[in-house]
Amino acid sequence: MIRIDKRIKDIMERDRKVFLTTTRGDNHFIADHGDGDFVYDVSGNKFIDFSSFISVYNLGVNGNKEIRAAVKAQVDKLMHAAFTDYRAELPVLFAEKLLKFFPSGFGKMFLSNSGTEANEAALKFSKLFTKRQYVLAFYNSFHGRTMGSLGLTASRAVHREHFGPFNNTLHAPFPYPYRCKMGHSTEECGMEQIDFIERNIIGKEAAGREIAAIFVEPIQGEGGYIVPSRMFMRELRRIADEHQILLVSDEVQAGYMRAGKFLAMDNFGIKADIYTMAKAVGGGLPMGVTVTKSSLGDIPAGAHANTFGGNLASVAAGYASLKYLEKNYSAIERNVRDNGKAIMKRLNEFKDGYEIVGDARGLGMMLAIELVKSKRGKEPAVMDRDKVVAEAFNNGLLLLPAGQSCIRIIPPLTVSRDSLDKGLDILEKAIKTVSR
Ligand SMILES: Cc1ncc(COP(=O)(O)O)c(C=O)c1O
Repeated sequence: MIRIDKRIKDIMERDRKVFLTTTRGDNHFIADHGDGDFVYDVSGNKFIDFSSFISVYNLGVNGNKEIRAAVKAQVDKLMHAAFTDYRAELPVLFAEKLLKFFPSGFGKMFLSNSGTEANEAALKFSKLFTKRQYVLAFYNSFHGRTMGSLGLTASRAVHREHFGPFNNTLHAPFPYPYRCKMGHSTEECGMEQIDFIERNIIGKEAAGREIAAIFVEPIQGEGGYIVPSRMFMRELRRIADEHQILLVSDEVQAGYMRAGKFLAMDNFGIKADIYTMAKAVGGGLPMGVTVTKSSLGDIPAGAHANTFGGNLASVAAGYASLKYLEKNYSAIERNVRDNGKAIMKRLNEFKDGYEIVGDARGLGMMLAIELVKSKRGKEPAVMDRDKVVAEAFNNGLLLLPAGQSCIRIIPPLTVSRDSLDKGLDILEKAIKTVSR
């Protein structure tokens, strides 16, 4: 059992006074240090990390020794080199290595500082490349919170309330196999949504020739870890091809091996035209990347730029992460596959054993459970979800919610089987306690 002492309460109090509200609520975690599978708070409480700090620490909490050494060495040399005005070799080395993880035909990228910026760049580039004005995104999606990407985001009204209008963004329903109204299987679910796009959006709202891009998360993250069918993604590709619309895969959360492959879209057997990445790609420091297909060409000088994209400290972390991943690729791939299977097995046991666990799903190690009031009615059990997260926290497991009533299971991809089992035991105990 962890201890919430005076120091923690005091920092929470001071934090509330100086910071505008974010999404933290009453969470008592006050970070201090971490390594590998574990993180410690300021009062010495130890936690198993099942959050990867929002899918950033894919290679272990606080990166790993190699990443940290690379950052330290770079910080002593030069931290910032105004990469959009001057050049440096390190970002070139990083870009060359990153492209090795991409399919052939991808040759250009833009560097920024976050997921939202990576998507802002993709928005601007797709309009520039196509000279079209509309973009299509999905309900339940999350692409960021700056004004352009927020136009695409449609997972919760609170994200958008008072900030609109958002011009030129169209939204279509995303398949949700667990809640498929047609009762279709996971693989069949999605045809109604494709039909909706063709019949209502392209047929009635905007002609295909006016749509610059379709933005899609290969697996919806913040929206509730929803995995669409291969058929749905393939149909999206077909629609994009038919109307020369660019398909943008937002890999900010699902990419970088999280869903079992470097690019989560590869799970569906199709390729996008533009990929966006952030979170894990920076190895623990801020970085966003927008990667475009070479055939799309270049953008005019000055059409897009920033101050900190290509920041040398961030790129040092990103480059060291890529080198580590390259060197240990098979082991990490195997770990994601084997540990992912082991986690899913336990999550399915939770589903079979507890009325409040309605669904267990995901790909690779991007996994989640959805809590419901009853298996039959499937009403989202929002309060029970929050209680499970709090109960697990009190017993030393760090979790993150998603969607209306889901809990993400996203430990670092390098997590040991022992930490995994201990974490899942804590989670099961929390589910059992809340079920009572
Ligand atoms: C799929 C996806 N896209 C974009 C973003 C926004 O990234 P950031 O918070 O770095 O701006 C997120 C953040 O959770 C995300 O999950």
